[in-house]
Amino acid sequence: MIFCRLILVFLFQISCSKKINFDKVYKDAMYASFLKSEFNYTSFLRRADHSAERYVPFQDTSNDTFFKVGILHKSQLENYTKIRMEDQLGTLKNKPWMPINEIREEFANCALLKFGSFSEHDFKYDKGMYGWMNIMKFSCARVLDQYLVFGMAFTRTRFRLKQVILKRQNTHWATSGRSLITRDVQKITEIFTIRFGQFVNEKLEDELRKHAISTKNIAGNPLNLKNDTFEELAVAYGRLRKHIKLSDSRGHTFSTLAFGIKSRILVTSPSHAPQAVEAISDELSDAPLKVLDTCHKDICTYDYMKNATFNPKTETYSYVKENALINTVHPRYSLIAFQKSKPYFTFEKMKRKTATKIIDVKQNLDTKAKNLWSSLLDQQFTLAIHVHNQELFPFDQFFMTLKPPID
Ligand SMILES: *[C@@H]1O[C@H](CO)[C@@H](O)[C@H](O)[C@H]1NC(C)=O
Ligand SMILES: *[C@@H]1O[C@H](CO)[C@@H](O)[C@H](O)[C@H]1NC(C)=O
Ligand SMILES: *[C@@H]1O[C@H](CO)[C@@H](O)[C@H](O)[C@H]1NC(C)=O
Ligand SMILES: *[C@@H]1O[C@H](CO)[C@@H](O)[C@H](O)[C@H]1NC(C)=O
Ligand SMILES: *[C@@H]1O[C@H](CO)[C@@H](O)[C@H](O)[C@H]1NC(C)=O
Repeated sequence: MIFCRLILVFLFQISCSKKINFDKVYKDAMYASFLKSEFNYTSFLRRADHSAERYVPFQDTSNDTFFKVGILHKSQLENYTKIRMEDQLGTLKNKPWMPINEIREEFANCALLKFGSFSEHDFKYDKGMYGWMNIMKFSCARVLDQYLVFGMAFTRTRFRLKQVILKRQNTHWATSGRSLITRDVQKITEIFTIRFGQFVNEKLEDELRKHAISTKNIAGNPLNLKNDTFEELAVAYGRLRKHIKLSDSRGHTFSTLAFGIKSRILVTSPSHAPQAVEAISDELSDAPLKVLDTCHKDICTYDYMKNATFNPKTETYSYVKENALINTVHPRYSLIAFQKSKPYFTFEKMKRKTATKIIDVKQNLDTKAKNLWSSLLDQQFTLAIHVHNQELFPFDQFFMTLKPPID
């Protein structure tokens, strides 16, 4: 419902309420199909490594969550700065972390699209402090031409790992924060991704029940993508990967490690594609942007990780990793996908006792360390897009090492 206030000839102020009939949106097959393909994490949950929880020595974890599905009328998007965010999201008094302005920008992007999906996996670990893993997903799609349906889910988690007890030093036992190996990072992200999936699945069920929507006879793939596109996506983004073997992972330890992986999928008409690319242009560097902007073939792709830059003051290695894909699926629409992260790490400083003293042992960015780091990032990039955009990978053969979860 939109309330509009019209001020008429100085004195008269009339409030009117223009009813928009959202009921027909709820009844539209596209609505159910959108929710089911964007916010049903069952296929990931069936394939995820539910044993990960056993391997991570958490001291404690705490979290906060948000989930919302809504509908906007086309007229509300004409000037997106006027959208009253509290009408769409509620008061958010206790969630000061909610990125209201970014969500507003997402609404604006949606106005250019038939479909849009954005997700972020934000992992940070600092041995001396805490670890954080924030996950979010936002999607929108056109329904019945006049409406935009959107959904969003956020989970934020802070965690601590148990301290490590060091050797007895004089009169007391010393403890220290725990450093990570790449395999630990994979286990931890798996755990929080599973919790995210379970949280969203519960919220989805509530939502469908609230409007008595049945998804029984509703197919996924509301975008009607064809096998050719699925095959291109499978080539560009690969399959979900197994965790790095303990024996390979153990060689290098990290005291800080962070990556925020953003993944975006857009479907737009080819005539709107340049505008859509412009709208997200601040999210990518020049090279992938050029690929998206100047593609004259059916498909163009980009995938690159820049070499490390080393900051000797903080002893931090930083990277930029990006990929992009544009596919003219059809004379009527183009699919654009990209991912981006600026990850970084610092090696743990290890100590070794010699006959006379304790010395620092420095870890170097040797070939083995480089390979470990890039396989960690490849695995995390693949995980992020597969988890949140399952409908793009219908022929995916995940690694089936484990039994399905117990419901
Ligand atoms: C979610 O997907 C699974 C299979 O992929 C299906 O069995 C289940 O019914 C779906 N849930 C909803 C609420 O649609
Ligand atoms: C959109 O709305 C804002 C706030 O009401 C206003 O300042 C701005 O001029 C409007 N822009 C357009 C293009 O109508
Ligand atoms: C939040 O924490 C509770 C209690 O530890 C846990 O059961 C739940 O799965 C967590 N939710 C998310 C989304 O991490
Ligand atoms: C798409 O691929 C699937 C699985 O390989 C196959 O079953 C289906 O027939 C294919 N569809 C078309 C239209 O080629
Ligand atoms: C990046 O590193 C590789 C080897 O590690 C080297 O061959 C290449 O020249 C480097 N590229 C740039 C742009 O520095």
